[in-house]
Amino acid sequence: MEPIYEGKAKRLFTTDDPNVLRMEYKDEATAFNAEKKANFENKGKLNTAITLALYRMLETKGVETHLVGQIDEINLLVKNVEILMVEVIVRNIAAGSFSNRMAVEEGTVFNQPIVEFSYKSDELGDPLINDDYAREMGLATPEECAELKEKALIVNDVMIDFFKQCGLKLVDFKIEFGRTKDGEAKIVLADEISPDTCRLWDIETGKKLDKDRFRQDLGDVMEGYEEVLKRVEKVIS
Ligand code: TMP
Repeated sequence: MEPIYEGKAKRLFTTDDPNVLRMEYKDEATAFNAEKKANFENKGKLNTAITLALYRMLETKGVETHLVGQIDEINLLVKNVEILMVEVIVRNIAAGSFSNRMAVEEGTVFNQPIVEFSYKSDELGDPLINDDYAREMGLATPEECAELKEKALIVNDVMIDFFKQCGLKLVDFKIEFGRTKDGEAKIVLADEISPDTCRLWDIETGKKLDKDRFRQDLGDVMEGYEEVLKRVEKVIS
């Protein structure tokens, strides 16, 4: 069966229900807009389990997601939403492209979270945009941009608290949203939340347990992801 969409880390397939898709998590990892590529055994399984646990936790806090259910270790059932081509990044601590762009030392704690938008375009390398770009490019209306920001800050509050219980600092993360096509039109959280899409540092030691281990060649990449899953499952159980 051919996927209806293939991204860098996941593939989407239709199901018998037109309102539901199957999302398969791949073992492939990319960084720096796919300049750097590798395959990590079990990454698909780990990110499926981590996303599933986080989405279920977020749902209990009133955050609506595209999650419908789990099929197996690497396949989730999700609502067939229209993905907004705006990636929403929330930063609590300076790192990554923020530190590079602004020459602010990694680890500098922000007084309040920073919310950023980028245009979801591999071709252009996901450029940083703002509400006006989103409006003129037809990516999201000003009202939708406000809703994305509000929802992203709620997700941030819930996740900071949850990861604190896991002994982890939530440095930053990227999320995506989709417009539901069935029933009343709503914007719900979609895509994944995993160590591919979050920066997570051990509270005690500062050790990086996310994809920066791959980006920065720190080694033991999957050990980091396994540690995140172990702690997430412990807090949830
Ligand atoms: P950045 O510092 O490289 O802009 O990344 C900010 C956060 O977004 C970080 O947690 C990693 C995540 N991210 C993605 O999930 N996908 C991407 O394509 C990029 C560039 C970052």
